Amino acid sequence: MSDRPKKKAEAIETWNFVFPNQSNPYGNMFGGELLAIMDSTAAMAAIRYSGKTVSTASSERVIFKHPIFVGDRIKTIAKVVLVGKSSMMVRTDVFVDKGESGGDDSKDILSTTAHFTLVAFDEKRVPTEVPELIIETEKEHKHHELAQQIKNHVKRREERIKHVVEKWG
Ligand SMILES: CC(C)(COP(=O)(O)OP(=O)(O)OC[C@H]1O[C@@H](n2cnc3c(N)ncnc32)[C@H](O)[C@@H]1OP(=O)(O)O)[C@@H](O)C(=O)NCCC(=O)NCCS
Repeated sequence: MSDRPKKKAEAIETWNFVFPNQSNPYGNMFGGELLAIMDSTAAMAAIRYSGKTVSTASSERVIFKHPIFVGDRIKTIAKVVLVGKSSMMVRTDVFVDKGESGGDDSKDILSTTAHFTLVAFDEKRVPTEVPELIIETEKEHKHHELAQQIKNHVKRREERIKHVVEKWG
């Protein structure tokens, strides 16, 4: 049996106003700006979970479902949903806030979802073990299962394209 400590993950939430300098020429939010916010929120979630410094190793399945416009308020929620030995997959969702009065979250629109994998480091920047994840709620089980499927899919994809990567870099 593993002697790794077990831990529940907390959801980290950041809020942003979308300014004109974050938009593309057509008036909606530039994807690179949005990804920076998402990556940074995912890193906060991974740091809070592991108690270590972290770096992003990859991002997977970035789905821009709904555009975000200048002047929108966006809420980014990140939570560790799957862990390996030193890696953590963090599901990150961005919502456009529509709760004009009193913050009615049910009106929020899910705009973008991505899964970032972050690695925890020790003081020498060597990947180091993170706690085992406690999964309790139905939503946590669903998000964990999806993350596991994404991880399996990435592994299969990397195997399939290995010979091409070896040839072309
Ligand atoms: C991420 C990084 C530390 C991995 O280094 P590495 O030598 O491959 O490390 P390891 O082989 O020991 O792997 C460590 C963990 O990272 C995971 N990992 C490595 N590369 C990965 C990738 N591309 N995608 C997902 N996970 C990855 C491994 O599966 C392993 O997970 P586990 O411990 O849970 O099993 C290294 O590639 C790096 O420093 N990259 C640059 C990070 C960076 O600058 N990010 C942008 C700014 S934050």
